[in-house]
Amino acid sequence: MLEAGKTKFHIDLRRYLREEGEEEALIHLICEIAEASKYIINSIRTGDLGVAGTSNLYGEQQLTLDVLSDRIMRKRLAQSGVVTNVASEEGREIVAVAPHRSGNYSVAYDPLDGSSLVDVNLAVGTIASIYLGADVLQPGIRQAAALYILYGPRTTLVYTTGKGVHEFGMNQLMEYTLLRRNVRMAPKATIYAPGGLRSRYTAGTTRLVNELEANGVKLRYSGGLVPDINQLLMKGSGIFFYPHLQGAAQGKLRLLFELNPMALLVEQAGGAASTGRGRVLEVVPEKLDEVRPFFCGCREDVTLAETFIAQEGRGEL
Ligand code: AHG
Ligand code: MN
Ligand code: MN
Repeated sequence: MLEAGKTKFHIDLRRYLREEGEEEALIHLICEIAEASKYIINSIRTGDLGVAGTSNLYGEQQLTLDVLSDRIMRKRLAQSGVVTNVASEEGREIVAVAPHRSGNYSVAYDPLDGSSLVDVNLAVGTIASIYLGADVLQPGIRQAAALYILYGPRTTLVYTTGKGVHEFGMNQLMEYTLLRRNVRMAPKATIYAPGGLRSRYTAGTTRLVNELEANGVKLRYSGGLVPDINQLLMKGSGIFFYPHLQGAAQGKLRLLFELNPMALLVEQAGGAASTGRGRVLEVVPEKLDEVRPFFCGCREDVTLAETFIAQEGRGEL
């Protein structure tokens, strides 16, 4: 176990997980997802940017890259030997990839979040939510691990197993080596990332934006969930929201594939993650394609969002 505060830079992901005392099957699984990211990087950098001619669980048009990234991830998970079921944002149902045996995991993943940003050369990412056992329809608080890979100017991997948040960077040998250990967030935001159409915000969210602006909090929004969340985590300060909207009471972002993994990571860094009315990690999912409003980041700002929403009501949604 690495002594607190001390980090041995250049320690690679597998060794770090071992030294953190993680269970072997989980180490193998996280490293397999890290391996899959190398093939996804290749498809992003060189793949066809067109449409796949199919649609996903949400009825959204899929890009070739979505389908290709999904195939890469699913194959890697199916062959890992430690995964029972997988659910993909790009799939339509839970897929049994191996008969369940004790010690196996199940994974809900978004193989390529922000895929529509690739053709304008903005940063995108892969998100994974890991549960012990065969069931992915569990509240996010039951996740065994959550991680994302961010394909930006540098490729980084950020994970938590419930023992803090740790960041790794891909080196010239395509190995992930430790960059930051125990990422922590300040209580108050210095940047904010407001998703969704402002004209469809309800009064509580509009009041939050006005309060943030009045306090000199700067707007930083790329339209990609992974870089937008990564920015507030690595700066240690910020709030991201994709709120409930007039005409979309549950917002847009997906509970299993986006909210739960990001909520666990931000909470583990000392932040908070709310649907605007309650803790994301306590929502009990009934089906794969659930979406919820999302307010995530510095604890004081997320609390302020909940207060304004409670005071202003949610309008006629
Ligand atoms: P995905 O590409 O997996 O469908 O997710 C895109 C998400 C997320 O990355 C981002 O926060 C949000 O869509 C932006 O939505 P708008 O384009 O509606 O702003
Ligand atoms: Mn997504
Ligand atoms: Mn996606």
